[in-house]
Amino acid sequence: MKNAMKPIQVGLLGIGTVGGGTFAVLKRNQEEIRRRAGRGIQVTMVADLDVARARSLVGDAAAVVADAREVIANPDIDVVVELIGGYGIAKTLVLEAIAAGKHVVTANKALLAVHGTEIFAAAHKKGVMVAFEAAVAGGIPIIKSLREGLTANSIQWVAGIINGTTNFILSEMRDKGLDFDVVLKEAQRLGYAEADPTFDIEGVDAAHKATLMSAIAFGIPVQFDKAYVEGITQLGAQDIQYAEQLGYRIKLLGIAKRREGASSGIELRVHPSLVPAKRLIANVEGAMNAVMVHGDAVGTTLYYGKGAGSEPTASAVIADLVDIARLHDASAEQRVPHLAFQPDAMSDLPVLPMDEVVTSYYLRLRVADQAGVLARVTGILAEAGISIDAVLQREAREVGGEGSTQTDVIILTHDTREGTMNGAIAKMQALPTVLAGITRIRKEELA
Ligand code: HSE
Repeated sequence: MKNAMKPIQVGLLGIGTVGGGTFAVLKRNQEEIRRRAGRGIQVTMVADLDVARARSLVGDAAAVVADAREVIANPDIDVVVELIGGYGIAKTLVLEAIAAGKHVVTANKALLAVHGTEIFAAAHKKGVMVAFEAAVAGGIPIIKSLREGLTANSIQWVAGIINGTTNFILSEMRDKGLDFDVVLKEAQRLGYAEADPTFDIEGVDAAHKATLMSAIAFGIPVQFDKAYVEGITQLGAQDIQYAEQLGYRIKLLGIAKRREGASSGIELRVHPSLVPAKRLIANVEGAMNAVMVHGDAVGTTLYYGKGAGSEPTASAVIADLVDIARLHDASAEQRVPHLAFQPDAMSDLPVLPMDEVVTSYYLRLRVADQAGVLARVTGILAEAGISIDAVLQREAREVGGEGSTQTDVIILTHDTREGTMNGAIAKMQALPTVLAGITRIRKEELA
Protein backbone atom coordinates (compact mmCIF):
# COMPACT_ATOMS: atom_id res chain seq x y z
CA MET A 1 0.00 0.00 0.00
CA LYS A 2 1.39 3.40 -0.88
CA ASN A 3 1.57 5.21 2.35
CA ALA A 4 3.27 8.49 1.87
CA MET A 5 0.26 10.66 2.65
CA LYS A 6 0.24 12.33 6.01
CA PRO A 7 -2.67 11.55 8.35
CA ILE A 8 -5.81 13.64 8.13
CA GLN A 9 -6.10 15.79 11.24
CA VAL A 10 -9.50 16.06 12.83
CA GLY A 11 -10.87 18.51 15.37
CA LEU A 12 -13.94 17.49 17.36
CA LEU A 13 -16.38 20.17 18.49
CA GLY A 14 -18.05 18.44 21.42
CA ILE A 15 -17.02 15.16 22.96
CA GLY A 16 -20.25 13.87 24.44
CA THR A 17 -21.88 10.58 23.52
CA VAL A 18 -21.10 10.62 19.78
CA GLY A 19 -17.75 12.41 20.09
CA GLY A 20 -16.61 9.94 22.73
CA GLY A 21 -17.65 7.04 20.51
CA THR A 22 -15.86 8.56 17.52
CA PHE A 23 -12.67 8.95 19.47
CA ALA A 24 -12.87 5.42 20.88
CA VAL A 25 -13.65 3.67 17.56
CA LEU A 26 -10.99 5.61 15.65
CA LYS A 27 -8.47 4.53 18.26
CA ARG A 28 -9.61 0.91 18.44
CA ASN A 29 -9.81 0.37 14.67
CA GLN A 30 -7.12 2.80 13.57
CA GLU A 31 -5.09 0.23 11.67
CA GLU A 32 -8.02 -1.12 9.66
CA ILE A 33 -9.35 2.37 9.02
CA ARG A 34 -5.93 3.47 7.77
CA ARG A 35 -5.77 0.48 5.43
CA ARG A 36 -9.14 1.46 4.01
CA ALA A 37 -8.60 5.20 3.82
CA GLY A 38 -5.06 5.04 2.52
CA ARG A 39 -3.93 7.38 5.25
CA GLY A 40 -4.31 7.75 8.99
CA ILE A 41 -7.18 9.68 10.58
CA GLN A 42 -6.19 11.33 13.82
CA VAL A 43 -8.21 13.39 16.26
CA THR A 44 -5.61 15.93 17.29
CA MET A 45 -7.83 18.57 18.86
CA VAL A 46 -11.03 18.56 20.90
CA ALA A 47 -13.14 21.51 21.99
CA ASP A 48 -15.55 20.99 24.85
CA LEU A 49 -16.84 23.25 27.60
CA ASP A 50 -16.13 20.47 30.09
CA VAL A 51 -12.38 20.49 29.56
CA ALA A 52 -11.59 18.19 32.49
CA ARG A 53 -13.97 15.49 31.28
CA ALA A 54 -12.72 15.83 27.71
CA ARG A 55 -9.14 15.46 28.90
CA SER A 56 -9.98 12.35 30.87
CA LEU A 57 -11.42 10.84 27.67
CA VAL A 58 -8.60 11.66 25.26
CA GLY A 59 -5.56 11.66 27.53
CA ASP A 60 -2.46 12.97 25.75
CA ALA A 61 -3.70 11.97 22.30
CA ALA A 62 -5.27 15.34 21.49
CA ALA A 63 -5.13 18.94 22.62
CA VAL A 64 -8.24 19.91 24.59
CA VAL A 65 -9.59 23.45 24.55
CA ALA A 66 -12.79 25.10 25.75
CA ASP A 67 -13.13 27.40 22.75
CA ALA A 68 -14.26 25.79 19.49
CA ARG A 69 -12.80 28.69 17.52
CA GLU A 70 -9.29 27.58 18.50
CA VAL A 71 -9.94 24.36 16.57
CA ILE A 72 -11.27 26.23 13.55
CA ALA A 73 -8.32 28.63 13.59
CA ASN A 74 -5.72 25.85 13.75
CA PRO A 75 -4.15 25.57 10.26
CA ASP A 76 -3.19 21.93 10.85
CA ILE A 77 -6.80 20.80 11.25
CA ASP A 78 -8.24 19.42 8.00
CA VAL A 79 -11.71 18.39 9.16
CA VAL A 80 -14.00 19.84 11.82
CA VAL A 81 -16.54 17.41 13.28
CA GLU A 82 -19.50 19.33 14.68
CA LEU A 83 -21.27 17.39 17.42
CA ILE A 84 -22.80 20.27 19.35
CA GLY A 85 -26.31 20.08 17.91
CA GLY A 86 -29.05 22.67 17.48
CA TYR A 87 -29.37 25.64 15.16
CA GLY A 88 -27.55 28.24 17.27
CA ILE A 89 -23.82 28.31 17.83
CA ALA A 90 -23.46 25.12 15.76
CA LYS A 91 -24.52 27.03 12.64
CA THR A 92 -22.06 29.84 13.27
CA LEU A 93 -19.21 27.41 13.88
CA VAL A 94 -19.98 25.28 10.82
CA LEU A 95 -20.04 28.38 8.59
CA GLU A 96 -16.81 29.64 10.18
CA ALA A 97 -15.14 26.26 9.67
CA ILE A 98 -16.18 26.29 5.99
CA ALA A 99 -14.93 29.85 5.60
CA ALA A 100 -11.61 28.71 7.09
CA GLY A 101 -11.39 26.05 4.37
CA LYS A 102 -12.09 23.06 6.62
CA HIS A 103 -14.18 20.10 5.60
CA VAL A 104 -17.08 19.52 8.00
CA VAL A 105 -18.65 16.35 9.31
CA THR A 106 -21.86 16.79 11.27
CA ALA A 107 -24.56 14.68 12.89
CA ASN A 108 -26.78 17.75 13.11
CA LYS A 109 -30.00 17.02 11.20
CA ALA A 110 -31.83 20.02 12.63
CA LEU A 111 -29.15 22.38 11.36
CA LEU A 112 -29.01 20.91 7.85
CA ALA A 113 -32.77 20.45 7.45
CA VAL A 114 -33.33 24.12 8.24
CA HIS A 115 -30.14 25.85 7.03
CA GLY A 116 -28.78 23.26 4.60
CA THR A 117 -29.19 25.43 1.51
CA GLU A 118 -27.00 28.16 2.98
CA ILE A 119 -24.45 25.72 4.38
CA PHE A 120 -24.09 23.60 1.23
CA ALA A 121 -23.81 26.73 -0.93
CA ALA A 122 -21.04 28.08 1.30
CA ALA A 123 -19.22 24.74 1.16
CA HIS A 124 -19.57 24.51 -2.62
CA LYS A 125 -18.19 28.02 -3.05
CA LYS A 126 -15.25 27.28 -0.79
CA GLY A 127 -14.60 23.85 -2.34
CA VAL A 128 -14.97 21.90 0.88
CA MET A 129 -17.15 18.91 1.82
CA VAL A 130 -19.95 18.86 4.37
CA ALA A 131 -20.67 15.23 5.20
CA PHE A 132 -23.66 14.15 7.27
CA GLU A 133 -24.15 10.38 7.24
CA ALA A 134 -24.67 10.45 11.01
CA ALA A 135 -27.54 12.93 10.72
CA VAL A 136 -30.05 10.38 9.43
CA ALA A 137 -30.73 7.01 11.04
CA GLY A 138 -27.48 6.93 13.05
CA GLY A 139 -25.37 3.95 12.05
CA ILE A 140 -27.41 2.97 8.97
CA PRO A 141 -25.54 4.13 5.86
CA ILE A 142 -28.69 5.54 4.29
CA ILE A 143 -27.15 8.74 2.93
CA LYS A 144 -24.47 6.73 1.13
CA SER A 145 -27.10 4.29 -0.16
CA LEU A 146 -29.42 6.98 -1.48
CA ARG A 147 -26.69 9.19 -2.84
CA GLU A 148 -24.39 6.60 -4.37
CA GLY A 149 -25.63 3.02 -4.13
CA LEU A 150 -28.98 3.83 -5.77
CA THR A 151 -27.71 6.47 -8.15
CA ALA A 152 -29.00 4.58 -11.22
CA ASN A 153 -32.59 4.88 -10.07
CA SER A 154 -35.43 7.26 -10.35
CA ILE A 155 -36.39 7.06 -6.68
CA GLN A 156 -40.16 6.73 -6.24
CA TRP A 157 -40.41 6.87 -2.48
CA VAL A 158 -38.55 6.68 0.80
CA ALA A 159 -40.31 5.69 4.04
CA GLY A 160 -38.55 5.19 7.31
CA ILE A 161 -38.77 4.60 11.00
CA ILE A 162 -36.20 7.26 11.72
CA ASN A 163 -36.84 8.10 15.35
CA GLY A 164 -35.92 5.48 17.91
CA THR A 165 -37.62 7.14 20.86
CA THR A 166 -41.06 7.06 19.26
CA ASN A 167 -40.56 3.56 17.89
CA PHE A 168 -39.70 2.40 21.40
CA ILE A 169 -42.83 4.06 22.77
CA LEU A 170 -45.09 2.58 20.06
CA SER A 171 -43.61 -0.89 20.58
CA GLU A 172 -44.28 -0.67 24.31
CA MET A 173 -47.83 0.63 23.76
CA ARG A 174 -48.58 -2.33 21.51
CA ASP A 175 -46.88 -4.98 23.65
CA LYS A 176 -48.33 -3.82 26.95
CA GLY A 177 -51.61 -2.24 25.84
CA LEU A 178 -50.65 0.97 27.63
CA ASP A 179 -51.47 4.55 26.68
CA PHE A 180 -48.92 7.04 25.37
CA ASP A 181 -48.49 9.10 28.57
CA VAL A 182 -47.77 6.06 30.72
CA VAL A 183 -45.19 4.67 28.30
CA LEU A 184 -43.50 8.04 27.82
CA LYS A 185 -42.92 8.36 31.57
CA GLU A 186 -41.47 4.85 31.67
CA ALA A 187 -39.27 5.58 28.64
CA GLN A 188 -37.93 8.69 30.38
CA ARG A 189 -37.27 6.73 33.57
CA LEU A 190 -35.29 4.15 31.57
CA GLY A 191 -33.37 6.82 29.65
CA TYR A 192 -34.91 5.95 26.25
CA ALA A 193 -36.64 9.32 26.04
CA GLU A 194 -35.04 12.63 26.90
CA ALA A 195 -36.24 14.83 29.75
CA ASP A 196 -37.62 17.17 27.06
CA PRO A 197 -38.80 14.73 24.41
CA THR A 198 -40.73 17.32 22.35
CA PHE A 199 -38.71 17.01 19.11
CA ASP A 200 -39.01 13.24 19.19
CA ILE A 201 -42.66 12.74 20.17
CA GLU A 202 -43.97 15.60 18.02
CA GLY A 203 -42.26 14.18 14.93
CA VAL A 204 -39.87 17.10 14.45
CA ASP A 205 -36.69 15.01 14.65
CA ALA A 206 -38.10 12.54 12.10
CA ALA A 207 -39.11 15.44 9.86
CA HIS A 208 -35.57 16.83 9.92
CA LYS A 209 -34.29 13.46 8.75
CA ALA A 210 -37.06 12.97 6.17
CA THR A 211 -36.29 16.44 4.79
CA LEU A 212 -32.65 15.48 4.24
CA MET A 213 -33.63 12.20 2.58
CA SER A 214 -36.15 13.96 0.32
CA ALA A 215 -33.45 16.33 -0.90
CA ILE A 216 -31.04 13.53 -1.76
CA ALA A 217 -33.67 11.22 -3.22
CA PHE A 218 -35.23 13.81 -5.52
CA GLY A 219 -32.58 16.49 -5.92
CA ILE A 220 -34.75 19.19 -4.34
CA PRO A 221 -33.47 21.80 -1.88
CA VAL A 222 -33.91 21.02 1.83
CA GLN A 223 -37.33 22.42 2.77
CA PHE A 224 -38.13 21.54 6.35
CA ASP A 225 -40.64 24.39 6.47
CA LYS A 226 -42.78 22.58 3.86
CA ALA A 227 -42.85 19.25 5.69
CA TYR A 228 -46.10 18.08 7.27
CA VAL A 229 -45.30 17.05 10.84
CA GLU A 230 -47.54 15.06 13.17
CA GLY A 231 -46.23 13.14 16.17
CA ILE A 232 -47.56 10.28 18.26
CA THR A 233 -48.97 12.15 21.27
CA GLN A 234 -52.61 11.67 20.21
CA LEU A 235 -52.37 7.92 19.59
CA GLY A 236 -54.39 5.65 21.83
CA ALA A 237 -53.66 2.04 22.74
CA GLN A 238 -57.13 1.27 21.40
CA ASP A 239 -56.19 2.25 17.84
CA ILE A 240 -53.03 0.20 18.00
CA GLN A 241 -55.16 -2.82 18.95
CA TYR A 242 -57.79 -2.21 16.28
CA ALA A 243 -55.05 -1.82 13.68
CA GLU A 244 -53.59 -5.12 14.83
CA GLN A 245 -56.97 -6.84 14.39
CA LEU A 246 -57.07 -5.53 10.83
CA GLY A 247 -53.56 -6.84 10.07
CA TYR A 248 -51.61 -3.60 10.55
CA ARG A 249 -49.06 -2.08 12.92
CA ILE A 250 -48.81 1.62 13.66
CA LYS A 251 -45.40 3.21 13.08
CA LEU A 252 -44.23 6.80 12.97
CA LEU A 253 -43.00 7.08 9.39
CA GLY A 254 -41.00 9.78 7.67
CA ILE A 255 -42.15 9.70 4.06
CA ALA A 256 -40.84 11.37 0.92
CA LYS A 257 -42.72 10.37 -2.22
CA ARG A 258 -42.65 11.44 -5.85
CA ARG A 259 -46.10 12.22 -7.28
CA GLU A 260 -46.56 12.32 -11.00
CA GLY A 261 -49.54 13.43 -13.04
CA ALA A 262 -51.77 16.48 -12.73
CA SER A 263 -50.34 17.81 -9.47
CA SER A 264 -46.81 16.50 -9.68
CA GLY A 265 -44.45 17.17 -6.83
CA ILE A 266 -42.96 15.65 -3.71
CA GLU A 267 -44.91 14.55 -0.68
CA LEU A 268 -42.88 15.23 2.47
CA ARG A 269 -44.60 14.14 5.63
CA VAL A 270 -44.15 12.61 9.06
CA HIS A 271 -47.11 11.05 10.86
CA PRO A 272 -48.23 7.81 12.46
CA SER A 273 -49.04 5.30 9.73
CA LEU A 274 -50.70 1.93 9.54
CA VAL A 275 -48.27 -0.48 7.90
CA PRO A 276 -49.24 -4.04 6.90
CA ALA A 277 -48.02 -6.35 9.70
CA LYS A 278 -46.46 -8.66 7.13
CA ARG A 279 -43.95 -6.04 5.95
CA LEU A 280 -40.48 -6.42 7.45
CA ILE A 281 -40.54 -2.78 8.52
CA ALA A 282 -43.67 -3.39 10.60
CA ASN A 283 -41.56 -5.70 12.74
CA VAL A 284 -38.86 -3.15 13.53
CA GLU A 285 -39.24 -2.88 17.28
CA GLY A 286 -37.88 -0.90 20.20
CA ALA A 287 -35.44 1.89 19.47
CA MET A 288 -34.29 0.42 16.15
CA ASN A 289 -34.52 2.37 12.88
CA ALA A 290 -35.27 1.16 9.35
CA VAL A 291 -35.64 2.89 6.01
CA MET A 292 -37.30 1.57 2.86
CA VAL A 293 -36.37 3.02 -0.50
CA HIS A 294 -38.18 2.21 -3.72
CA GLY A 295 -36.28 2.85 -6.95
CA ASP A 296 -37.64 2.19 -10.42
CA ALA A 297 -34.74 -0.12 -11.31
CA VAL A 298 -33.89 -1.79 -8.02
CA GLY A 299 -37.43 -2.13 -6.65
CA THR A 300 -37.90 -1.95 -2.90
CA THR A 301 -34.88 -2.03 -0.60
CA LEU A 302 -34.70 -1.99 3.20
CA TYR A 303 -31.99 -0.75 5.55
CA TYR A 304 -32.08 -1.59 9.24
CA GLY A 305 -29.95 -0.77 12.27
CA LYS A 306 -29.35 1.41 15.28
CA GLY A 307 -30.46 4.98 14.72
CA ALA A 308 -28.67 6.45 17.70
CA GLY A 309 -26.09 5.73 20.36
CA SER A 310 -22.41 6.35 20.82
CA GLU A 311 -20.64 3.87 18.55
CA PRO A 312 -23.41 3.33 15.97
CA THR A 313 -23.42 7.07 15.28
CA ALA A 314 -19.62 7.17 15.45
CA SER A 315 -19.61 4.49 12.75
CA ALA A 316 -21.33 6.97 10.43
CA VAL A 317 -19.12 9.89 11.44
CA ILE A 318 -16.00 7.85 10.72
CA ALA A 319 -17.33 6.67 7.36
CA ASP A 320 -17.56 10.35 6.42
CA LEU A 321 -14.03 10.95 7.69
CA VAL A 322 -12.76 8.10 5.51
CA ASP A 323 -14.54 9.58 2.47
CA ILE A 324 -12.96 12.93 3.18
CA ALA A 325 -9.53 11.37 3.71
CA ARG A 326 -9.79 9.75 0.27
CA LEU A 327 -11.15 12.81 -1.53
CA HIS A 328 -9.23 15.48 0.34
CA ASP A 329 -6.76 15.97 -2.48
CA ALA A 330 -9.23 15.36 -5.32
CA SER A 331 -10.71 18.27 -7.24
CA ALA A 332 -14.18 19.39 -6.15
CA GLU A 333 -15.74 18.03 -9.40
CA GLN A 334 -14.64 14.51 -8.51
CA ARG A 335 -16.61 14.51 -5.28
CA VAL A 336 -20.17 13.27 -4.90
CA PRO A 337 -22.43 16.36 -4.67
CA HIS A 338 -23.79 17.12 -1.21
CA LEU A 339 -27.38 16.42 -2.25
CA ALA A 340 -26.53 13.74 -4.83
CA PHE A 341 -27.39 15.98 -7.81
CA GLN A 342 -25.06 18.61 -9.22
CA PRO A 343 -25.86 21.99 -7.62
CA ASP A 344 -26.78 23.49 -11.01
CA ALA A 345 -29.03 20.52 -11.84
CA MET A 346 -31.40 20.51 -8.90
CA SER A 347 -35.10 19.87 -9.42
CA ASP A 348 -37.75 22.53 -8.96
CA LEU A 349 -40.49 19.98 -8.20
CA PRO A 350 -42.56 21.57 -5.42
CA VAL A 351 -43.17 20.00 -2.03
CA LEU A 352 -46.92 19.44 -2.20
CA PRO A 353 -49.28 20.97 0.36
CA MET A 354 -50.80 18.33 2.63
CA ASP A 355 -54.24 18.72 1.02
CA GLU A 356 -52.73 17.35 -2.21
CA VAL A 357 -51.24 14.23 -0.60
CA VAL A 358 -52.87 10.99 -1.72
CA THR A 359 -53.01 8.09 0.69
CA SER A 360 -55.43 5.65 2.26
CA TYR A 361 -56.89 6.01 5.74
CA TYR A 362 -57.92 4.34 8.97
CA LEU A 363 -60.87 6.11 10.55
CA ARG A 364 -62.34 5.38 13.97
CA LEU A 365 -65.71 6.81 14.88
CA ARG A 366 -67.35 6.54 18.27
CA VAL A 367 -71.03 6.36 17.33
CA ALA A 368 -74.44 5.81 18.85
CA ASP A 369 -75.41 2.16 18.35
CA GLN A 370 -78.58 2.90 16.34
CA ALA A 371 -80.12 1.93 13.03
CA GLY A 372 -78.88 3.95 10.06
CA VAL A 373 -75.71 5.36 11.65
CA LEU A 374 -73.33 3.36 9.49
CA ALA A 375 -75.39 4.14 6.38
CA ARG A 376 -75.10 7.90 7.00
CA VAL A 377 -71.34 7.65 7.56
CA THR A 378 -70.72 5.55 4.47
CA GLY A 379 -73.09 7.82 2.52
CA ILE A 380 -70.83 10.81 3.24
CA LEU A 381 -67.78 8.86 2.10
CA ALA A 382 -69.59 7.75 -1.09
CA GLU A 383 -70.66 11.32 -1.84
CA ALA A 384 -67.03 12.42 -1.58
CA GLY A 385 -65.96 9.62 -3.93
CA ILE A 386 -63.99 7.88 -1.18
CA SER A 387 -63.96 4.12 -1.65
CA ILE A 388 -64.13 1.88 1.42
CA ASP A 389 -61.67 -1.01 1.71
CA ALA A 390 -62.84 -2.61 4.98
CA VAL A 391 -65.19 -1.93 7.89
CA LEU A 392 -64.92 -3.27 11.42
CA GLN A 393 -67.67 -2.66 13.95
CA ARG A 394 -67.24 -3.62 17.57
CA GLU A 395 -70.10 -4.93 19.65
CA ALA A 396 -71.28 -2.12 21.92
CA ARG A 397 -70.70 -4.14 25.08
CA GLU A 398 -67.07 -4.76 24.08
CA VAL A 399 -66.54 -1.01 23.81
CA GLY A 400 -68.62 0.38 26.68
CA GLY A 401 -69.50 -2.68 28.78
CA GLU A 402 -72.93 -4.34 29.30
CA GLY A 403 -75.81 -2.03 28.34
CA SER A 404 -73.55 0.34 26.35
CA THR A 405 -75.32 2.38 23.69
CA GLN A 406 -72.11 3.43 21.98
CA THR A 407 -69.73 1.57 19.77
CA ASP A 408 -66.65 2.03 17.60
CA VAL A 409 -66.78 1.80 13.84
CA ILE A 410 -63.43 1.45 12.10
CA ILE A 411 -63.20 2.12 8.38
CA LEU A 412 -60.25 1.52 6.08
CA THR A 413 -60.40 3.47 2.82
CA HIS A 414 -58.71 3.24 -0.54
CA ASP A 415 -56.48 6.08 -1.73
CA THR A 416 -57.95 9.54 -1.70
CA ARG A 417 -56.76 13.15 -1.54
CA GLU A 418 -56.18 14.47 1.98
CA GLY A 419 -58.25 17.55 1.15
CA THR A 420 -61.19 15.34 0.13
CA MET A 421 -60.84 13.31 3.31
CA ASN A 422 -60.78 16.47 5.44
CA GLY A 423 -64.09 17.54 3.93
CA ALA A 424 -65.67 14.13 4.55
CA ILE A 425 -64.41 14.00 8.14
CA ALA A 426 -65.90 17.43 8.85
CA LYS A 427 -69.30 16.23 7.57
CA MET A 428 -69.18 12.97 9.54
CA GLN A 429 -68.11 14.83 12.64
CA ALA A 430 -71.20 17.03 12.38
CA LEU A 431 -73.57 14.02 12.55
CA PRO A 432 -75.35 13.97 15.93
CA THR A 433 -74.76 10.23 16.14
CA VAL A 434 -70.97 10.66 15.98
CA LEU A 435 -70.21 11.09 19.66
CA ALA A 436 -66.51 11.94 19.87
CA GLY A 437 -63.65 13.30 17.80
CA ILE A 438 -62.98 11.12 14.76
CA THR A 439 -59.56 9.46 14.78
CA ARG A 440 -57.79 9.51 11.41
CA ILE A 441 -54.54 7.63 10.83
CA ARG A 442 -52.98 7.43 7.40
CA LYS A 443 -52.17 4.05 5.92
CA GLU A 444 -49.19 3.09 3.75
CA GLU A 445 -49.04 -0.22 1.91
CA LEU A 446 -45.28 0.17 1.18
CA ALA A 447 -45.45 -2.35 -1.64
N1 HSE B 1 -33.54 11.34 19.26
C1 HSE B 1 -33.28 10.51 18.14
C2 HSE B 1 -34.12 9.26 18.20
C3 HSE B 1 -31.86 10.07 18.02
O1 HSE B 1 -34.84 9.03 19.16
O2 HSE B 1 -34.04 8.49 17.26
C4 HSE B 1 -30.98 11.04 17.34
O3 HSE B 1 -31.40 11.35 16.07
